Amino acid sequence: MGSAARFAVDPKLTALLGETYSSSEKALRELIDNAWDADATTVRVTLPDNLPDTLANRAITISDDGTGMTEHEVRTIYLRIANDRWSRSKDARTAGKKRPVKGRKGIGMFAGLAAAHTMTVETTARGNTTTVVIEKIKLLEAAGGDDLEAIDLPIEVSKTKPDQHGTTVVLSDLDQSKVIPSADALRRILAREYARQNDFSIFINDEPLQVADLGGESKSETFNHPDIGTVTVSWTVSEKPLPKGESGFVYRVGGKVVGRTTFCGLEDEEDIPDKVRNRLWGEIEADGLAEHVTADWGEIVENSLPLKDVQKEAARLASGHLREVCKVEVNAAKARLQKVVKSRIETLPAYRRQYAMEAVEKVIQKYFPEGDDKVRLLVTLVLDALERDEYFVICEKIASASGSDVATIADCLSEFGLVDLAVMGKQARSRLSILDDFERLASDSATTEAEIHKAIENNLWLLGPQYSLIASNQTLKKIIDGYLAKGGKQRRASRRPDLFLGQSPDERKLLIEFKRPSATVGRDAEAQVKKYRDDLTPDNGPMNIMVIGGKVDSSLRPDPHSDAQFRSYTAIIASARTQLEWLIEELKRR
Ligand SMILES: Nc1ncnc2c1ncn2[C@@H]1O[C@H](COP(=O)(O)OP(=O)(O)OP(=O)(O)O)[C@@H](O)[C@H]1O
Ligand SMILES: [Mg+2]
Repeated sequence: MGSAARFAVDPKLTALLGETYSSSEKALRELIDNAWDADATTVRVTLPDNLPDTLANRAITISDDGTGMTEHEVRTIYLRIANDRWSRSKDARTAGKKRPVKGRKGIGMFAGLAAAHTMTVETTARGNTTTVVIEKIKLLEAAGGDDLEAIDLPIEVSKTKPDQHGTTVVLSDLDQSKVIPSADALRRILAREYARQNDFSIFINDEPLQVADLGGESKSETFNHPDIGTVTVSWTVSEKPLPKGESGFVYRVGGKVVGRTTFCGLEDEEDIPDKVRNRLWGEIEADGLAEHVTADWGEIVENSLPLKDVQKEAARLASGHLREVCKVEVNAAKARLQKVVKSRIETLPAYRRQYAMEAVEKVIQKYFPEGDDKVRLLVTLVLDALERDEYFVICEKIASASGSDVATIADCLSEFGLVDLAVMGKQARSRLSILDDFERLASDSATTEAEIHKAIENNLWLLGPQYSLIASNQTLKKIIDGYLAKGGKQRRASRRPDLFLGQSPDERKLLIEFKRPSATVGRDAEAQVKKYRDDLTPDNGPMNIMVIGGKVDSSLRPDPHSDAQFRSYTAIIASARTQLEWLIEELKRR
C-alpha cells in the first residue's frame, strides 16, 4: 500500500544537508553509528568502484541486522529531525545490548545525502517492512520555501516474517562531483572505534574490519602453545599515540573481547619511549584461553600459566617491531637535523666534538617522539652547554621554552651532566645577594663611576645572560688605558670617561661606558660614546656599545637597529632580579 510520509519538524534543512563532513567516509560513519545504536551485530557496507562512468547507476548500501523500525517509528522518530527530544544524555544506553548510544542530535541519517541524491531506507520490524525514499532535490526545494512539512515522501509498507528485523540504507544517484567513499579510508575511520568491539562486526565489501585497518604498519604472527593451541597476535603501530586506555592489546577469546587493554609487560622495556609504545594497537586471539576466563567473562585469570606465556610472546613480537619503528624514526630525525648539527659541531673545539656527537645522538634517540621542533631545541641546548658551561645562557633559553618543555629540557641537560640543578640553585642564590649589594651601591648618589665599574666588571651577568661570558683581558685593558691616557692630555682627570672593553668567546667586542648613579644618560652621552667607539674601532674591529647611568633621558628611544644601548641601573637590577627569582622558583619546583 503506497502513501506519503512527511517530515515532522522544520529543522532549517539547508543547514542540515550542508552539514559539513570533511569526507564522505565520515558521513557514512553516521549510518554505521546508527546501526550500532540499533543493537545490530553485523553491518555490511558495499561501495561501488570509483569509476566515474558507472557512478550514475551504482549505489552504496549499508545493511544492518539491528532492531529496525516500524512504520510508526519511521514517521515519528526517523523523520523527526533535530528534535530536542533527541539531544540525549551522554550516558544513554541502547535498550537491548546496553551499548553507549552514539546518536545525539537526530540528524545523522541525513549524512547519507552528503554523497548521494537519493536515499532509500528499507527497515523491518515486527512483521512489517517499511520503505521510504528521500530525495535530496525535493528537500532542497522545500527548504528554499517555507514549509518542510509539505514534502511528500513516498512510503510503502509490506508484510514480512515476524522475527525479521534490520535496516538497509541504499544511497543511489551518487553525487558525480564527489569522490566515491574509499573502502580503505572508511576502514581507517571505523577501525579504532569498532574493530575491537564485541558483538559488532563490520564488513566492507565482504571483508571484515580488522586490526590492520587502523592505518600504520601492521603485523600478525601465529604460534602454537602446548596447552591452549593456536594463538594469533595482530597489531598495528599507528602513526600517532592513541588515547590512554585504547593503546595496547586486547584479548579475543571465542570471538569476544575479554578484559581491558594490556601492554603484556612492554611497559617495562625502557628503551621504548612511552610515546611510541602508546601507538601500539592490537589483538591477541586465543580461543584456547576460554577456560582461563573469569566466570563473568570480564577478565582473564591473571595467574594462569598459559596467559603468562602468551604475554611474553606477544611482548617479544611487538617490542621487536616497536624497536624497528624507533630505529627508522631516529634515523629520519637525524637526517633532518644533520645540517644544523654538523655546522654547530664544527665550531666546537676539536677535543669536544666526539663527545658532542655522542650527546646529540643520545638526545635524538631519547627525545625523537617529541617531534622535530623539540628535538632541535634540545640538541641546540646541549651544544650550547658544551660550548660554554655557563648556566645562565642555558637558563635564558629554558625561560623562553613553554611549560612542559622546561621539565624536558632540564631532564635532558642534567642527564648529560651539563646542568646540575643543585649548583644552579646555589649560584642563583649567591647572585641574588650580589644583586642586593649592587642595588645598595647604585642607589647611593655618592657612588662614583669607578666603584660601579668595579662592581659590574666581574659580574657582567647583571646585564643579562647574553653578557655573562664577556670578559676583559690584559690586552683589552691596555687598549683602553692607552686610549684614555692619550685623550687625557686634553681632558682634566676628573672628566675622564670610565670605559670597559670586553669580548665574548666568539670575539664580539663590547664597550661599556659607566656613568655615576646621579647622572642621566642623554643625547650628549650618545654622541660621546659613539666617538669613543669610532676612535677605538680602526684597530679593534666592530664593537657594540652600552652606556649605563642613573637615568636614561626619555628622548633616547631604544632603537632595535642600533648597536648602541642605553640603560639605567634600576632597569638592570629589576630585570636581573626577575630572572634570578624565576630561576630559583623553577629549581624549587623540581
Ligand atoms: N539503522 C537504524 N536502525 C534502527 N533505527 C534507526 C536506524 N537509523 C536511524 N534510526 C532511528 O532514527 C533516529 C534518527 O537517526 P539519526 O542518525 O538521524 O539521529 P540520531 O542517531 O538520534 O542522532 P545523531 O544525529 O547524533 O546521529 C535514531 O535515533 C534511531 O531511532
Ligand atoms: Mg545517528
